Parts: sequence; C-alpha cells; structure tokens
Amino acid sequence: VAVKSVHHVGIAVDDLDASVLVYEELFGARLEHRERVEEQGVEAASLRIGESRIELVSPLGPDTPVGRFLAKRGPGMHHVAFEVADVAAELARLRADGAQLIDESPRRGLFGLQVAFVHPEATGGVLAEFVSDD
Ligand code: CO
Repeated sequence: VAVKSVHHVGIAVDDLDASVLVYEELFGARLEHRERVEEQGVEAASLRIGESRIELVSPLGPDTPVGRFLAKRGPGMHHVAFEVADVAAELARLRADGAQLIDESPRRGLFGLQVAFVHPEATGGVLAEFVSDD
C-alpha cells in the first residue's frame, strides 16, 4: 500500500463564497485554487490550512452528484482523499481485493489532479478518493 498522506478532506457546501470565508476566519485557511467544472457539476475551492488541505465542493444544480448528496445528507463531510504515487496501481490493487470502485481508471479531477473514487460500500460509509499530482 502506497498511501503517502491524506491529501485533502472534501466538504459539500451550499454556498461556496460563504464557506470559504468561514474557513478563512475560523481556521486561517488560505485559498489555493478555485475552479468551476461544468461536466462534473461543481464549483470547488482548495484551501490550505497549515500543512493540510480542505476541498470545498458546491453543486452547480440539484441534479448533480454533489447536489444529490446535499439533498440527501445536507452540508458536511463528503470524501477523504489519499495521496498516492500511482492511482492506477492502487485501483488495480483494490480491484484485485474485490473492493467496489466508482472509477475503473484514473481520470482528470479538480485542479488538474489525477483522481479515482472508491465506493463508500468498500469503506464503511466514507467516499474515498485517490489523488496523484502527476
Ligand atoms: Co477531492
């Protein structure tokens, strides 16, 4: 297993501007990136807090993955992202173990990162993401 660290924690929010301010004021967060991705139905902000990172994701509409998440669960923790050197290799390892995957191969995620998601069924209820900077 080649997980290096928790790369970020993803939080689903209704109002991205307001949430960025909350994290800046409460925790001294610094905005690192902000991006709107129509095909994923999200606008997202990456915030640095000390050596750690939070990713705020807000839906572009109700009929998007994050929009459906908010309707069902409300705002709050959405996923945990683990930094790995090789997303494809980690997916192959999980597939061999029989774990349920959302992405069968790495894809371009937010902020130009290579990502793949692992189904919450595999983890006891937490959506997990593999991330590589390459
Ligand atoms: Co993420």
